[in-house]
Amino acid sequence: QDDDFKRVISHAKEYGYVFQSSEIYDGLSAVYDYAQNGAELKKNIREYWWKAMVQLNENIVGIDAAIFMHPTTWKASGHVDAFNDPLIDNKDSKKRYRADVLVEDHVAKIEAKIEKEVAKAAKRFGDKFDEAQFLATNQRVVDYQEQATTILKRLGKSLAAEDLADVKKLIEELDIACPMSGSKNWTEVKQFNLMFGTKLGATAESAMDLYLRPETAQGIFVNFLNVQKTGRMKIPFGIAQTGKAFRNEIVARQFIFRMREFEQMEMQYFIKPGTQQEWYENWKKNRMKWHLSLGLGAENYRFHDHEKLAHYADAASDIEFRFPFGFKELEGIHSRTDFDLASHEKHSGKKLQYFDYETRESYVPYVVETSIGLDRMFLAVFSNSLQEEELANGSTRTVLKLPSVLAPTKAAVFPLVKKDGLPEIAQEIIEDLKWDFNVEYDEKDAVGRRYRRQDAAGTPFCITVDHQTLEDKTVTIRHRDSMEQQRVAIESLKGIIHEAVDM
Ligand code: GAP
Repeated sequence: QDDDFKRVISHAKEYGYVFQSSEIYDGLSAVYDYAQNGAELKKNIREYWWKAMVQLNENIVGIDAAIFMHPTTWKASGHVDAFNDPLIDNKDSKKRYRADVLVEDHVAKIEAKIEKEVAKAAKRFGDKFDEAQFLATNQRVVDYQEQATTILKRLGKSLAAEDLADVKKLIEELDIACPMSGSKNWTEVKQFNLMFGTKLGATAESAMDLYLRPETAQGIFVNFLNVQKTGRMKIPFGIAQTGKAFRNEIVARQFIFRMREFEQMEMQYFIKPGTQQEWYENWKKNRMKWHLSLGLGAENYRFHDHEKLAHYADAASDIEFRFPFGFKELEGIHSRTDFDLASHEKHSGKKLQYFDYETRESYVPYVVETSIGLDRMFLAVFSNSLQEEELANGSTRTVLKLPSVLAPTKAAVFPLVKKDGLPEIAQEIIEDLKWDFNVEYDEKDAVGRRYRRQDAAGTPFCITVDHQTLEDKTVTIRHRDSMEQQRVAIESLKGIIHEAVDM
C-alpha cells in the first residue's frame, strides 16, 4: 500500500501534475503546486462539479466570495471558539500529533486486518465466497469490527464532551506508541485553533486582525439574502461556490489529502425548517450519484454517518473513498440547521430571514450543505486511475485511466515519420481540433514509445498520420484503455472525441 502511494506521488510529479511548493527551497510542508497537467485536471473536476450543481439545477446559483471576510464572521460562525484540533505531544520524540488521528490510525490498522481476513477467505472459497456473510459470521472479523466501532464511538463521545483527559486515556489504553520513536510518553491533550491569522491595513494602529477563511461556506451565508433577493430565489434553493480555504493543519502528510492551503467546492441548500431530514437524505443520494457517474467504481465509496458532530451540525455524513492509504473522507454532507444564519443575525444585527409569499411568514431558513475538497477529489481520481497493466505479450504498461471527461489533454497527434508532409497534416489536424479540445503534437521517438508516454499522462486518444493519410485523408485513432486502433476519416475525429469527452 505504501509503495502504491509512493508511486502515485512520483507519477504526479514526473508527468507534470503536482509539484511540492517552493521545491527549490526544499518545499513547504503540506503546500503543493498544480503543474501544467494538474491545473487542467483540477479545472475539469471543478467544471464537472459546477455543471452538476449550477447548470443542471435551476434553483442553484453560483457565487465567488472573497477570501478575506470581516473578522466578526468567524466569531459568529463559531470558528474562533470551536475550530480546534486536539493535540498531543510525545515527550521523548518532541513530536506533535493530532490525538484523534492517532486513534483513527489505530482503527485503520484494525480495518486493515479485516480486509486481510476477507482477502484470505475470498482466495480460499473462490466463486463461492459471500463477503457479507463472511463479515457477519466470522468471529474474529466480528470482534475486530466491534473493537473498531467501540473505539470510534468513545473517541467521538469524549471529543463532543470536550473530555480531553479521556482522549489521552484512550490513547494509553490502546497502547498507541509514537510513530517515530515507539515511545508512549504523552503529554496532556490540548485544543489548537486551526485558523491562519493575518493583518489588513497599512499602519500598526489601524491594522485589523483578519483570518484566512477556513471554509468557503461563510461567504455564502453572509450573502444569503443578497442572492435570494436579487436572484428572486424561492426556498428551497442553493448557492454554490468553489475557492481556496486555509487551515493550519497539524498532521501534514498524505500528499494533497491534507493541505494547509486547499480548495473547496461547497453548496449550501436553504430549506424550510422541519424539512432538513428529507433534504439531507436527498443530498446524500444525489452526491453519491455524482461520484458514481465518474466510473471510479462503486466498491471504492462508502458513507460514514457521524456520531461526533461539528459545532454547527445536527446530522452529518461523509462520503469516504478508498485512497491508497485506506478509506478516508472525501466529501461531507451536513445538516447545519439555522446555526449560521441565526448566529450572523445575532452578531450583525441584520435580519437574515426569508419571506414566504404564499404562507405570508418570515423565517430563518435551515441549511443542508455538501462540501467536497477539490484536491481530495483530484487525489481520488488520480490514484484510482493510475494502473500497471500486464499486456498479452508479457510486457507491462503504466496507464493513467482518467475519466476522459476529466483528462487534461484529450488527444495527441503524431506523424508516423518526420517527413513526406506527414508533420504538416498532423499540424493541420491540431489547428482544427484545438478550438474544441486540448491537443498535443508529438513527433519524437517510435510511435510505440509515444503511445506509452500518452498512456502514462492520461491522454484518452492518440491520432497517427501515416502514408495512407496522403491518399485517402484517413488516420488511425487509438483508444488509451483498450489500445484498440481504428482507421477513420480526419473529418470524423471531432465527433468521435466529443462523444467520449463531453460533460
Ligand atoms: N463547510 C463545511 C466544511 O468545511 P469540512 O468537513 O471541514 O467541512 C469539507 O471540509 C471538505 O473539505 C472535506 O471533506 C475535505 O474534502 C476538504 N478538506 C478539509 N480539510 C482539508 C485539508 N486540510 N486539505 C484538503 N482538503 C480538505
